[in-house]
Amino acid sequence: MQEQSLILEMKDITKTFPGVKALDGVTLKVESRSVHSICGENGAGKSTLMKVLSGVYPYGSYEGKIFFDGKEMRFRNIKESEQAGIVIIHQELTMIPELSITENIFMGNEITEKGLINWHEQRKQTVELLKKVGLSINPDTLIKHLGVGQQQLVEIAKALSKNVRLLILDEPTSALNENDSANLLELMRGLKEKGITCIMISHKLNEIAAISDAVTVIRDGQTVESYPVVAGQVDENKIIRSMVGRSIENRYPEHESKPGDIIFEVKDWCVEDPEVEGRMVCKNSSSYNQVVFVENPRFFPWYISVRRVSVMDISMHQVLK
Ligand SMILES: Nc1ncnc2c1ncn2[C@@H]1O[C@H](COP(=O)(O)OP(=O)(O)OP(=O)(O)O)[C@@H](O)[C@H]1O
Ligand SMILES: [Mg+2]
Repeated sequence: MQEQSLILEMKDITKTFPGVKALDGVTLKVESRSVHSICGENGAGKSTLMKVLSGVYPYGSYEGKIFFDGKEMRFRNIKESEQAGIVIIHQELTMIPELSITENIFMGNEITEKGLINWHEQRKQTVELLKKVGLSINPDTLIKHLGVGQQQLVEIAKALSKNVRLLILDEPTSALNENDSANLLELMRGLKEKGITCIMISHKLNEIAAISDAVTVIRDGQTVESYPVVAGQVDENKIIRSMVGRSIENRYPEHESKPGDIIFEVKDWCVEDPEVEGRMVCKNSSSYNQVVFVENPRFFPWYISVRRVSVMDISMHQVLK
């Protein structure tokens, strides 16, 4: 790696919570205009590292140094990291469901004129931002009416409104279906073309292989390995080995399932969207579940207690203990 093209360097970062050393001397180097993936098992310290970088945990609450564009940064809050061009999209989506896309995008960064919010300008800019992330949707739409994939795109549109130079995506595809995930990865490629560097935390090795220019593996709060990805070639076994600290002989052990009799069956199940009248999220769906072990059959009413559900025909055949 050529040191001169580094956009980010985190040196010896240590972060302690009461009773937990979440980060223990982590080092991270990210090349400018690249997609850099960070992997590690649950609890390895990935999100904490990104929260340190983005000022969620302010300077003084951790040890070590952060260099962005070669200059040492001492962010006291998120606002300061955003001013420098670092924007984080957290693992949990943080937008307010009852507000519109425009309101969410400009929340805390309202465009004002003579002390009043310039709604017309905000709306106009939102349309442009949505275009950039490939969403053709009314900017007045409430967030609660969007699917998770669309919400994720709005989060990115919001990041773009802040003149982002380093975008951090913490597990962006964990709640997305295959199509939405592919869309998002494509969008990240486009951002890279436009000169935006991305750090992506992901557990999905196929996505890491598809998009990364470099990978860093963190285990127990320490950097285990960091290397460039050449021509999309990612050695998944190597990553897993680094993540868990030992080789996994068989990633998909043979498993013989022994389904029991059908205990629960739904026929012609129709579910209306609780928020949008007339929109069906499920239409005449039929399925059945075979459960080998049912701990407590009284949970079954929960199954059918979705709001405004009309169950045409439910038949329970047998409950196995
Ligand atoms: N606010 C907090 N207070 C106390 N401990 C915390 C806090 N945040 C994180 N931790 C602990 O720090 C360690 C690292 O957590 P972190 O959330 O950074 O892991 P992660 O790699 O992002 O995991 P995941 O893949 O599950 O998101 C864990 O042991 C976690 O329990
Ligand atoms: Mg995390």
